Amino acid sequence: MSVLIAGCGDVGTETGLRLARAGHHVIGWRRSPGKLPDQIEGVAADLTGELPPVPGDVHTVIIAVAATAHSPSAYRSAYVHGLANVLDALERDAVSPRRILFVSSTAVYGDAGGRAVDESTPEAPGYFTGQILLEAEALLFRRLAGTATSVTSLRLGGIYGPGRTRLIDQIKSGRAVIPDQPRHTNRIHRDDAAAAIVHLATMAPEPDPVYLGVDTEPAELGEVLRFLANELGLAEPSTGHVASARGGDKRCSSLALQATGFRFTYPSYREGYRAVLAGTGTRHA
Ligand SMILES: NC(=O)c1ccc[n+]([C@@H]2O[C@H](COP(=O)([O-])OP(=O)(O)OC[C@H]3O[C@@H](n4cnc5c(N)ncnc54)[C@H](OP(=O)(O)O)[C@@H]3O)[C@@H](O)[C@H]2O)c1
Repeated sequence: MSVLIAGCGDVGTETGLRLARAGHHVIGWRRSPGKLPDQIEGVAADLTGELPPVPGDVHTVIIAVAATAHSPSAYRSAYVHGLANVLDALERDAVSPRRILFVSSTAVYGDAGGRAVDESTPEAPGYFTGQILLEAEALLFRRLAGTATSVTSLRLGGIYGPGRTRLIDQIKSGRAVIPDQPRHTNRIHRDDAAAAIVHLATMAPEPDPVYLGVDTEPAELGEVLRFLANELGLAEPSTGHVASARGGDKRCSSLALQATGFRFTYPSYREGYRAVLAGTGTRHA
């Protein structure tokens, strides 16, 4: 039995390595399969074009593609057309997986004015990123409705981890500014994102259709920046006006994910960034 990871980049590769270690045969689809480690069977596939055959023993499909540019057309191409194409390939080859897991984003909730957000919160994306991801999710749920395949969307917060050091780089370069308005950040370490995908893809009871994938502690961005400056032994950034974030201000909860038995290795930015600063792990190409 095989697991197919469509769009197998940093999160997909870490997920695939964990599944391979647990004894699964893992196939990774991407345009540059040569970048994948030996534990994952890399297959050249452009999700927006003609797709290779889907092996008949694929029982789980994980879609972890990311858009290659920050534009509506690149997002629609990767998330909506790419996803539709994968579903077409499954139909074409008469493969009915037991479970499909789509990697989405908390961007689908838009701005919540700093309020708490969980799976019961109505989606209200204010920006094209969340709007297009929501369109992709709707397509996925519509196409698989009434079939034996269970569908789950894991809506991840901002991913940080090995080599994903945007905030650290801002502190080091002196470009970081602590917002003068409340601004929460909802984050997840790359390894916890991969672990959550493995957990949802393999857990015995059928998972729910939607989970938020964020650590246990939404934090003020200023608090995270002060923490990083302190860990690095650098001066605290100054406070000033920062243009409002596209994702808006919200406090996302992963209590539903935790209720399935999932436990975070990095429950907050503190443990996670300490590991990054200690040089733990590598970013997968
Ligand atoms: N970055 C964040 O903070 C964040 C937040 C929330 C959710 N997410 C979601 O998390 C997921 C995983 O992100 P990531 O960090 O692993 O991204 P990543 O490292 O950029 O991996 C995405 C992979 O998709 C592949 N890909 C792109 N276009 C493709 C196409 N047309 N056909 C086949 N493969 C294609 C790329 O490989 P090739 O170039 O070899 O094709 C790339 O390795 C994405 O769904 C993203 O939307 C990210």
